[in-house]
Amino acid sequence: MDTSQILRTFLDFYRDRGHALVPDSTLITPQGDPVLFTSAGMHPLTPYIEGRHHPLGRRLTGVQRCLRTTDLDEVGDDTHLTVFQMLGSWSLGDYSGDQSLRWGFELLRDGFGVPLPKLHVTVYDQDPGSLDTWQRLGVPVEPLGGDNWWSNGPTGPCGPDSEIFIWTGDGPPTGTPSTDDRWVEVWNHVMMRHHRRPDLALEPLDQPCVDTGMGLERMSMVLQGKTSVFDTDVFSSWMRWDPSRLVCDHLRSSVVVIGDGVHPSNTGRGYVLRRLIRRTLTHLWRSDPSRTLGDLPVEPIGATLDWFSLPMDPLYVLDVLVYEERRFHALLRRGRPLIERLMLRGPLTDDDFHYLHDTHGIPRDLVEEVLVTSSS
Ligand code: SER
Repeated sequence: MDTSQILRTFLDFYRDRGHALVPDSTLITPQGDPVLFTSAGMHPLTPYIEGRHHPLGRRLTGVQRCLRTTDLDEVGDDTHLTVFQMLGSWSLGDYSGDQSLRWGFELLRDGFGVPLPKLHVTVYDQDPGSLDTWQRLGVPVEPLGGDNWWSNGPTGPCGPDSEIFIWTGDGPPTGTPSTDDRWVEVWNHVMMRHHRRPDLALEPLDQPCVDTGMGLERMSMVLQGKTSVFDTDVFSSWMRWDPSRLVCDHLRSSVVVIGDGVHPSNTGRGYVLRRLIRRTLTHLWRSDPSRTLGDLPVEPIGATLDWFSLPMDPLYVLDVLVYEERRFHALLRRGRPLIERLMLRGPLTDDDFHYLHDTHGIPRDLVEEVLVTSSS
């Protein structure tokens, strides 16, 4: 199954069960939102999970682009991405968590053809209802503690979750999701029953909801028989340009962020974009200082913009990347001698970092990048 077939299979399954399609929203969160980027499929639906009436009804499905900077240091492993897509289904005070798990099982088995022996799930150990549902379905289940409690931040809707894993090892499955990481988590069903108040007390939601999110790229990895998301059709055009996972992830993510209207800058979203581009360049220059984003073909940029339905000219995106590369080059040229002079006295101290930042406008992470590029 290619990625677009996976997407269609998921959305069709839920549409056949009365779910209305919600449009994919931008990564940019509304003003006043405590986070910079949409970080979960349910994020744009938060007010509706908390009780507001949704114009499309009480059963929804969709695919949402998400960005997680918390995973930045894990990017490069087999399954973590900065920008990824989440397929979702929601019951806004409609059907129960039990129904959601049953449909989830049906879709995995009949829609995606995942054999039962390759499935394992985890549940919150104080959620006997989910445990019972999985046991009745005959799926191996592991009750766990706090890892199976999901929230999208310190306050807001939250509840116990049930995570679904698919076996990706060569031989027959061994261990459980918590003991063998060849069990890859592909889907999370959250029983949204509570609201955490600013004083951190929990109160029940007026209408219990169910929020599920399936990682599209991970599902592609599993169904395409690959051991990494970077080996799927999602990344083929990026991997042809550079086989580094970090470079592919950060460039693809940058294209989506630029496509959503962000410019590199020193604050907020623009700073996240700047970091992605600079990390890419630092990585490329470590092996070959002559590498330049000016050599990037428009094909992967165009394919990414098309896939995310972003109406932007790929050449414009390329311009943004190349302009940022020039600025980074100039900063490195200016910063390197200053840093090297300070280093003659020994390792940099906090005072040195303050001096470089306050007097020369060179932030700490850039100093660290200079140190990395100098030592290579
Ligand atoms: N909100 C949950 C998650 O992001 C399920 O969609 O994992």
